[in-house]
Amino acid sequence: MKIVVAEDYNQMSRMAANLISAQVIMKPNCVLGLATGSTPIGMYNQLIEWYKKGDIDFSQVTSINLDEYRGLAPDNDQSYRYFMDTHFFNHINIDKKRTHVPDGLEPDANKVCRDYNKIITDCGGIDLQLLGIGINGHIGFNEPGTAFEKETHVVDLAESTIRANSRFFASLDEVPKQAYTMGIKTIMQAKKILVVANGKEKAQAIKDAFFGPILPKVPGSVLQLHNDVTLIGDKEALSLILDEIE
Ligand code: GLP
Repeated sequence: MKIVVAEDYNQMSRMAANLISAQVIMKPNCVLGLATGSTPIGMYNQLIEWYKKGDIDFSQVTSINLDEYRGLAPDNDQSYRYFMDTHFFNHINIDKKRTHVPDGLEPDANKVCRDYNKIITDCGGIDLQLLGIGINGHIGFNEPGTAFEKETHVVDLAESTIRANSRFFASLDEVPKQAYTMGIKTIMQAKKILVVANGKEKAQAIKDAFFGPILPKVPGSVLQLHNDVTLIGDKEALSLILDEIE
């Protein structure tokens, strides 16, 4: 595992954007596993800037997002489809037909999961998977206790995740209680993984995930078993592991 310490959020975003753009330049028809959340917004902005300068071409890229709230329509401004469109896809030349996010409105949850697994298999797997990390160590929406062998599945969100994500909703009650997420098995099958983290509230999760025991209690800890993981964090997020990496 490679750990890169960034001075601040801007530097973290630029470094992460560099790895994504290197992937796209090396393999223009690559499959990117993408993530939502506040952490990667700066990275998406940087990629948009480089795209506008003519430095990156997304026209052949396929994207597969990690997760989506169950029950939210794509045009709901809290859905992850809406997030991806407004923060990234609408500003670059990716073909929207090749951008995938689980279908939040389909009533049959098993169908959503089956279809999503098939999309991932049909496109030949993920070349580079981007991940943020939850304050409880979750990746995607794989909450503590999730079996490592799961593929795409529907989850009941942890109380702490509902509370953490309520900052984006008008009230706590409006936060969906369930979500679809790529499973840990799916994430681990990606050829490369890039984790981004910033802010001191992530410091404990980063320490537990990258230097603690590998346990379903800390979903991110499974990443220690992957052979090509890069963690880019700002000094605050890495504050509890600086001793271990210097
Ligand atoms: C959310 C998402 C994750 C994200 C994480 C951290 O619940 N499902 O994919 O990585 O929480 O979000 P943030 O970057 O806003 O801290």
